[in-house]
Amino acid sequence: MSTSLPTRFAQLASGLAFCSTLGLAPALAQSKPGAATTLTVQVNKPGAPIAKTMYGLFFEDINFAADGGLYPELVKNKSFELDEHLLGWRGIRGAAALSTYTVSSQQPISNANNHFLRMTAATASPDAGFINEGFRGMGIKQGADYTFSVYLRRGPGSVSGLNVTLEEEGQRGAGPEAAGSGNVLAQTRITGLTGEWKKYSVVLKSTGTAPRARLKLTMEGAGTLDVDVVSLFPKDTWNKRENGLRTDLVQLLKDMNPGFLRFPGGCIVEGRNLTERYQWKETIGDVASRVPLVNRWNMEFKHRSTPDYYQSFGLGFYEYFQLSEDIGAEPVPILNVGMACQFNSAELAPVAGSTAGGPNAPAASRGHNHADDDPTLETFIQDALDLIEFANGPASSTWGAKRVAMGHPTPFNLKYIGIGNEQWGPQYLERYEPFMKAVKAKYPTMNIVSSAGPSPDGELFDAASKRLRELKAEVIDEHYYAKPEWFRQNVGRYDNYPTTGTKIFAGEYAAQSVAIGSPDNKNSWDCAISEAAFMTGLERNADKVIMASYAPLFAHVDAWQWTPDMIWFDNLRSYGTPNYYVQKMYSTNPGTTMLPMQRADNAKNGQDNLFSSAVADDKTGEIIVKLVNYSPEARPVTINLQGAKKLGKAGKATVLASNDLNAVNTLDQPLNVAPKDASFKVSSANVTYTLAPHSFTVLRIPGKR
Ligand code: AHR
Repeated sequence: MSTSLPTRFAQLASGLAFCSTLGLAPALAQSKPGAATTLTVQVNKPGAPIAKTMYGLFFEDINFAADGGLYPELVKNKSFELDEHLLGWRGIRGAAALSTYTVSSQQPISNANNHFLRMTAATASPDAGFINEGFRGMGIKQGADYTFSVYLRRGPGSVSGLNVTLEEEGQRGAGPEAAGSGNVLAQTRITGLTGEWKKYSVVLKSTGTAPRARLKLTMEGAGTLDVDVVSLFPKDTWNKRENGLRTDLVQLLKDMNPGFLRFPGGCIVEGRNLTERYQWKETIGDVASRVPLVNRWNMEFKHRSTPDYYQSFGLGFYEYFQLSEDIGAEPVPILNVGMACQFNSAELAPVAGSTAGGPNAPAASRGHNHADDDPTLETFIQDALDLIEFANGPASSTWGAKRVAMGHPTPFNLKYIGIGNEQWGPQYLERYEPFMKAVKAKYPTMNIVSSAGPSPDGELFDAASKRLRELKAEVIDEHYYAKPEWFRQNVGRYDNYPTTGTKIFAGEYAAQSVAIGSPDNKNSWDCAISEAAFMTGLERNADKVIMASYAPLFAHVDAWQWTPDMIWFDNLRSYGTPNYYVQKMYSTNPGTTMLPMQRADNAKNGQDNLFSSAVADDKTGEIIVKLVNYSPEARPVTINLQGAKKLGKAGKATVLASNDLNAVNTLDQPLNVAPKDASFKVSSANVTYTLAPHSFTVLRIPGKR
């Protein structure tokens, strides 16, 4: 029986509350109020280099992050291939004479795209047609250009054209069948129809701005018209690409200077069952031929049910690699290890030599278009090997040739792949080992990310970590979704991890203001500052932790399932949360070399709410100090830069602060909690600075080691 995520996550949350951690004892000595705390940075005793991958991004198609978000196609269900073929479409007044749609295997556009809308009007009517609602409407900007394209085939009768209207939402209360008469934003007419499928394309310029526009298609004349692959795509995309991404959202990512991009998830990699797993090969090639798949998050949370949530795969693996390249991030694809989500069906692909079947054997075909081959572990391994060839192989290789054909002759230079998302138990280890060995046999230098499961401690976590270290795993992916105090109390989590061998990827984390899975979780300043505090512990252990990413990344304000999330958006606007700014302050100040840092009073990092870490930036010749003051009082500190050379006269402080721990950012107040820059004097190797109440501060001090 499947267990829902909320239930599992509620269990997880309560488990975490009982964790006795590596953290702090509850009663801690307070420094004398008002006296400056001295922190020593041993500039002359540098530690290990900091991995270029240190601070990165976790992308998953949850909360309408892809369709309706980063992927700016405005038409929902453009090819009529969803299980509910007319989802997103509705007939309008005059459509009574229309037969709704035909599922035809006779002369569809392609075998992969074999459903289309057949409109038949017995008599001509100006309103005989259909409306597409978009993804909670369509965000349209005044003066902007949108490419409308469609495949049309004229049938019997005398249909002479298709009228295309982009309009604001009509008046409410006019009934679902009403055409509505919202303001027209753009209009065109397509003529020259033939009896064969033909693609038509035209650019529409909008005369107005509307956050919730819609697209109306009406027939001119009586008869039959076949319609497929209806697309309305903004011209203004990242790098002006035809199938490009939403510019404001990519800009927010690029501004972070991310070290890596993890994709496509997340549980979406696994699927609720193996048939619904993410299959990268189904997401490349001609966009019109990519077959959509249900999104596993659609009905996961009863309190945020989104039955209309599918994956069009317009944003597929090629686009993920391209995005990584665009924003300067190492691509880190996470692949299915032959296991469906263990919070759901927990289906398993059989391992060679073990008995197939059993309660968790994959179900037979579920009648979906996707290749449904009762896969064995070998299928998954082959997919991984083929992916590496797709990313890195020469044009002469089978999969490298597909990348080249899509327009990227040079390799993507893939160096990391994840085997399994958030898997646990012996079933994972049993599959991971042969999988890892097969990848290593063919690609010995590939870095493999393995999973420690959904919980950051406990028996399963310990067993997985032990075995993965025995197997000489390069990187173990640890996840923690917990209360803000957990983050502050666990700042020392990595202090005793081994410095040699396996490294850590803090692959998914976020402070939960209420509980995991709660719809009341907020991206509050309390959560963000607690993450900032915890991250000083990551930075102090950058010889063990080489990658870290907040999760999830994106959420549509009208279509989310999971909160908190780093970046929120509607159809036109977007903003970074306080958590975004914390991540950005780390990822834009990563440094190159660890520097040891201690308090003169020998207090532990985090004691009496003061958290700190330091790195050198050997490229710019600066010492970077990160300081979190989780107290309602201002706090003076003296930073003693031991052995620093060539100190400059002034430093730069970036401060993120709010007196209100419940403060959040919103679409209307996107910068309520946002960093502010200032300069400060550096007159000696003892730098004095006063930390604001409840603040996260990054100091960049010119000086060499
Ligand atoms: O980030 C949301 C989900 O949390 C991810 O999909 C999964 O890996 C984790 O359980």
